[in-house]
Amino acid sequence: MKRIVVTGGAGFIGSNFVRCMLATYPELHIVNFDKLTYAGNLDNLNDLDPARHMFVQGDIADKAAILKAMNGCDAIVNFAAGSHVDRSIMGADDFIDTNVTGVYNICEAARELRTPRVLLVSTDEVYGSIDEGSFTEDDPPRPGNPYSASKAGGELIALAHFNTFGTPITITRGSNTYGPYQYPEKVLPLFVTNAIDGQPLPLYSGGENNVRDWLYVEDHCRGIDLALRKGQAGQIYNIAGGNERRNIVLTRKILDLLGKSEDLIKLVKDRPGHDRRYSISATKLKALGWAPRMDWDQGMALTVQWYRDNEWWWRKIKTGEFLEYYRRQYHDR
Ligand code: NAD
Ligand code: DAU
Repeated sequence: MKRIVVTGGAGFIGSNFVRCMLATYPELHIVNFDKLTYAGNLDNLNDLDPARHMFVQGDIADKAAILKAMNGCDAIVNFAAGSHVDRSIMGADDFIDTNVTGVYNICEAARELRTPRVLLVSTDEVYGSIDEGSFTEDDPPRPGNPYSASKAGGELIALAHFNTFGTPITITRGSNTYGPYQYPEKVLPLFVTNAIDGQPLPLYSGGENNVRDWLYVEDHCRGIDLALRKGQAGQIYNIAGGNERRNIVLTRKILDLLGKSEDLIKLVKDRPGHDRRYSISATKLKALGWAPRMDWDQGMALTVQWYRDNEWWWRKIKTGEFLEYYRRQYHDR
């Protein structure tokens, strides 16, 4: 592959993916197509070589724009999405536009242009919650909130596209991802940056029961790259961190790494429809040669240190629109 289009490449995982791919494949050129919503940030890309990385501002819900960007590419990898569950509960219009219509547009453009490879980045949230054991790719989607329902909707359209037209689409479903450049609305960067400032950590429903499986961002990116190169069209591949932790354990870990008191934990009203536990098996991707490399303790230490060292990055974000969102989301909890 010489030229790939990455959509949503100015966000958290997308920007890490672009950086990893340029470092891994010296001949590769990337067109980074991103709408620059509140979560898209050119600061995430400012160290990249402009000779191999071209940024284009655009919306995947705009069919003509994505068709033009994909013309002549060897592959497209889609990260573009509304990605935050709490925002989807406030209102899901943008989630439907991007995660359903946008994905449909990518499928249609790939069909028209005969794009050789399409990789859609999806989420373990499409399975919904599981009390015991782990979901495999054969389990049906049972999404439990507007965000995950919109992701499942995009997936179903894409799989039907493969079935009907043979469009060479592969889907990955990653677990909760952490690392540098994550927008501080998600629990980990929110709690780290709040704790640095001595602000409360709003933990939903005590954090005792809810479990997430933490996947370091570089491990997620290597999994997507492998599925892009070796995954089969029409197939789904889970990417699991293998680090299931209760939210209270994650919260204590952050406070411990920062040397802050547990008095900062503020127990707040639960998220409506809150999925209790996510757990997936990555056996299928492991059979292609993938395994997570990052140990959780080490990944947490690296990540917390990154936010300590890069206040220039998150302090700019935690102003304006973010403060308005934060007030709406947390003021009466
Ligand atoms: P993010 O919110 O940090 O980034 C999303 C990016 O998409 C932003 O740069 C935004 O500007 C762009 N975007 C949004 N709508 C767009 C549109 N209509 N057209 C073009 N660009 C648009 O999200 P993230 O956490 O990096 O997630 C990336 C992908 O990975 C998403 O598809 C998400 O569902 C999936 N995922 C995320 C996680 C996680 O833990 N963060 C885990 C599994 C899967
Ligand atoms: O599982 C993969 C998914 O992980 C991705 O598809 C999503 O894009 C990503 O946002 C993430 O979804 P979650 O809902 O699991 O992530 P979030 O960081 O919002 O919440 C993680 C857990 O922390 C969840 O149990 C809710 C809880 N939480 C979250 C926030 C924002 C709190 O207790 N307090 C908070 O303020």
